[in-house]
Amino acid sequence: MSKIVAVLLICTSLCVFVNTFPQNQGTRIIGGEVAPAGQFPWQAAIYVTTADGQYFCGGALVAPDWVLTAAQCVYNAIQFTIQLGSNSLKTSDENRLIVSTSLYTVHPDYNPQTLEHDIGLIKFHMPITYTDYVQKINMANMGQIFDGIGVTASGWGQTSDDNAELTDELNFVNLVIISNTECQITYGSQVKSGMVCAVGNYNEGICLGDTGSPIIKPGIKGEPLHVGIASFMSLNGCETAEPTGYTRTDVYHPWISNLPRVTLDKKTIKNARIIGGQVASPGQFPWQVAIYKNTTDGRFFCGGAIINEQWILTAAQCVYAATQLTIQLGSNQLQGSDDGRVTITSSTYFYEPRFDPTLGVAHDIALIKIEEPLTFTDYVQPIGWAYIGRLYPGKVVTASGWGQVSDADSTLENDLSYVEMTVFDQIECQAYYGSQLEDTMICTVGTTNQGTCYGDIGGVLVTKALDWLGDFTVAVAISSWMSQNGCESSDPKGFTRIDAYISWIVNTTRDN
Ligand SMILES: *[C@@H]1O[C@H](CO)[C@@H](O)[C@H](O)[C@H]1NC(C)=O
Ligand SMILES: *[C@@H]1O[C@H](CO)[C@@H](O)[C@H](O)[C@H]1NC(C)=O
Repeated sequence: MSKIVAVLLICTSLCVFVNTFPQNQGTRIIGGEVAPAGQFPWQAAIYVTTADGQYFCGGALVAPDWVLTAAQCVYNAIQFTIQLGSNSLKTSDENRLIVSTSLYTVHPDYNPQTLEHDIGLIKFHMPITYTDYVQKINMANMGQIFDGIGVTASGWGQTSDDNAELTDELNFVNLVIISNTECQITYGSQVKSGMVCAVGNYNEGICLGDTGSPIIKPGIKGEPLHVGIASFMSLNGCETAEPTGYTRTDVYHPWISNLPRVTLDKKTIKNARIIGGQVASPGQFPWQVAIYKNTTDGRFFCGGAIINEQWILTAAQCVYAATQLTIQLGSNQLQGSDDGRVTITSSTYFYEPRFDPTLGVAHDIALIKIEEPLTFTDYVQPIGWAYIGRLYPGKVVTASGWGQVSDADSTLENDLSYVEMTVFDQIECQAYYGSQLEDTMICTVGTTNQGTCYGDIGGVLVTKALDWLGDFTVAVAISSWMSQNGCESSDPKGFTRIDAYISWIVNTTRDN
């Protein structure tokens, strides 16, 4: 009897992200053909990061924001980078769409040893738009998968046992479904009712790197139907004539249909540099200030924004327990000999009375008073903040700061950077952070993992607004926190909504 082995491909130097994929002469999954563009528009290439390393998988788009794959491909995942719309893993392709996310759900009874219930789903932050090259596939219902039917497997897995690399071009191969009884001749009782096996004429089939990829069959009207998820093969290798194993789509269709919109692990909020940003030009963010906070425990760095001649808006974390605040304004460089640079100190600050760092990051907003009114120049200007326009999901917002640029580099940047993100749906953000996320906060996401990091806290998030005077830029939120998974994760970044505290800002600046 052959032992079942998982088809998961571990990424060593062999499987890296799109741009750096090594050259490969191979042309197929075992015994297959290269797919023409748009033939499998639901096919997804999935790069999975876990604490143990990186893996490559396939998957299928089953809704504008869901990819169906194997549980092996999502189990213990920290982050996914998913490619849609291109049959090539590395050649430039204008139809390619890259999505990053860390959201997934895995079948609750999945067993990594036996590969039972090897099914999982990856969720995007926002639905994608279908194109000729990006389309969903419908899932088969009960009764649509039986012995003897022809199916098609597609994937980027190895094309032979000797060639341990992925293929650059998507391959497909035609297979025939066999009964579980017949499959048990090879694999014994390891074959369970939630699984289905397929064979080729000779040794065709899936190989390492194909895990999670779909097998499909034509429906009644010839429309493609997803019938299985590549899950296992024989320990004897990919080139044997032994059947290959799949998770049956029909058995799990009800489980998928009944999934809540989002079922996710709660992540702990961590206090939150600009990741994936660009260097700002002089005077582009004239309201931006750098704040050095001295406390009895040490010195901390934050951002902030000038809102008028005497007041700086920042996060409560940035002033709490401060013995003195040193504020630098008028320059994009933290260090240098810029004429515009002004450095002032203050120990007059006010944080929202409900802010309590022992309880979390709620009400993370503060004001710093400057005794000597500022002189405005091209490089020192206030930002408007009293904006109550709706921060609808998808609205484009810009953050700026000197924070870290990657998780590995914990130093501040000398040059001010900025990044564009979009406002994230509050309900979906709650799925990440649970009740830690309050109505007075908003979340943002980038197309990949752009966002704020340590050292950006206190800086304001701005957006374009429109009134009868025309276009203007307005501050809408204050950088406050990020996920425990680090700045480079695609988890949403958190901000304090300014509109929730308008009367506190008005009163504090009026009465002090
Ligand atoms: C603040 O801290 C820095 C670094 O520890 C120190 O050089 C500076 O003198 C401190 N300022 C005050 C007013 O304590
Ligand atoms: C601001 O002051 C007004 C009175 O001038 C008061 O009614 C209101 O509650 C205050 N708001 C806050 C948040 O302190």
